[in-house]
Amino acid sequence: MSLYLCLWFSVAVAVNPPLGTHQLLEYDVDLEASPLERYANVYFDFLQRRGERGLKAFQETYQAWHARLRSALPEIFGANETQKQQRWWEALRRGHPVAAAELYGLSQRLGSDVAGDVAALATAVSLYPLLIISPKALTDAPGAPGRPSACTSSLLSYGGLVYHGRSLDFEPRDPIAETTVVVRHKWRGEAQYTCLQPLVWTTALQWFTCVRPKAFSLSVNARAQGIYMESNSSFEELLRRVGSGAYLLGEIAEEAMAAKSYDEALQILSLAPVVSSNYFILAGVDGQGAVITRFGNSSSADVWSLDSSKVTCDGQPPWLRVQTNVDHWVPFGENYATHRRQHLVNMLTSSSGVPSKDQFLQAYFVSNALEGSENRTQPEDTGAILRPTTIATIILNPSEQPDMRDWYIWNESAKILPPVSEQVI
Ligand SMILES: *[C@@H]1O[C@H](CO)[C@@H](O)[C@H](O)[C@H]1NC(C)=O
Ligand SMILES: *[C@@H]1O[C@H](CO)[C@@H](O)[C@H](O)[C@H]1NC(C)=O
Ligand SMILES: *[C@@H]1O[C@H](CO)[C@@H](O)[C@H](O)[C@H]1NC(C)=O
Ligand SMILES: *[C@@H]1O[C@H](CO)[C@@H](O)[C@H](O)[C@H]1NC(C)=O
Ligand SMILES: *[C@@H]1O[C@H](CO)[C@@H](O)[C@H](O)[C@H]1NC(C)=O
Repeated sequence: MSLYLCLWFSVAVAVNPPLGTHQLLEYDVDLEASPLERYANVYFDFLQRRGERGLKAFQETYQAWHARLRSALPEIFGANETQKQQRWWEALRRGHPVAAAELYGLSQRLGSDVAGDVAALATAVSLYPLLIISPKALTDAPGAPGRPSACTSSLLSYGGLVYHGRSLDFEPRDPIAETTVVVRHKWRGEAQYTCLQPLVWTTALQWFTCVRPKAFSLSVNARAQGIYMESNSSFEELLRRVGSGAYLLGEIAEEAMAAKSYDEALQILSLAPVVSSNYFILAGVDGQGAVITRFGNSSSADVWSLDSSKVTCDGQPPWLRVQTNVDHWVPFGENYATHRRQHLVNMLTSSSGVPSKDQFLQAYFVSNALEGSENRTQPEDTGAILRPTTIATIILNPSEQPDMRDWYIWNESAKILPPVSEQVI
């Protein structure tokens, strides 16, 4: 009898959240409003409710991101950073006028004391595509420089339904979690899709976690680890890509959310040109689901579907797709994010049948390390799913209206617990 079965039997009645949660603030955003104004009411209401604490959350986040850029890319942002910020902002304005207008709206709302000028804000919010051009070690073994990316997305096909699990991780965790809200995106007065959104990011750079009820759901994970990706691209090359208008991670996700069907969304996510490498995890309503791996270097997408007959190297059955921050064809081992992936796979495949939704959620609440991985802390890949950087944990089911009882925004950091050996329980 495995540990996980025992855990699951003991929680079959109710799944208790392991940490305190933030209240879910829900907002409506009108997709027809101009990008400059689209979020004005959301920011206004949010900042009024949270007061000083709300503004501080933005400020702390951007300060941490600027510090991160200076240390990860000292040759670009270490000296004369305002000039580089200006060039980044100009490339964004050239290739992404809608994204630039939205950034401008946010910068007006926050004011320069909190956000700096609009070029500084645009740079901070672009942390992810900027960071992945930074040099990296040739392995992801402990000791290699870490990156703030540790989302866990997965798809579980259960009796014709597809459950879509998601933990959203980023740093600095506490202030980002503070700004995380639920947004219903409306068109002609009707809700089209609902997302979990930290307000520190604008749409184009947002980490989408969304569901379009009766159609599909989408989550986006970072593909920032490993020895390839954009690590050897120069700042000039990145400016060229951004200026060319290729999609930023949130722009392609927004375009996909505007689609009416799973197939249409899949098409957009696999074909539209992209600026950066990312994973898109998509669930449909008729048993469909896929992980789409995109390459910022313009190689064509890899689409890894539920039920695909390809044998996985880490024991994933056809009804399961677990995606962390490592390519699915990289086997369990030294690479970052393979331990977390393996732990979730082990938990979900430990019983004889397909786990239920509550069991699925319970696995996302596990902050214990995988046995044998407990010392992989630099970067952290102990196998904990609920991690010190986890902002939110969600189970989506695209065949229904979103059930907010399965949406948790954590108001504190999880602690990594020692592995639990099967013998102990
Ligand atoms: C977190 O939320 C819980 C309720 O979910 C509350 O009891 C606790 O005081 C909160 N903790 C912090 C640090 O805000
Ligand atoms: C920063 O700018 C100044 C003047 O514009 C220039 O003299 C200096 O070389 C620049 N430093 C770096 C590191 O680019
Ligand atoms: C990146 O560039 C460095 C120096 O040119 C080279 O040694 C390294 O192999 C390159 N890495 C990749 C992944 O291409
Ligand atoms: C893009 O990167 C992948 C590795 O992530 C590599 O296999 C592929 O050859 C690269 N493609 C180009 C066009 O450089
Ligand atoms: C982790 O480190 C502790 C303390 O150094 C050691 O006792 C333990 O054996 C290590 N575990 C593994 C799996 O290497």
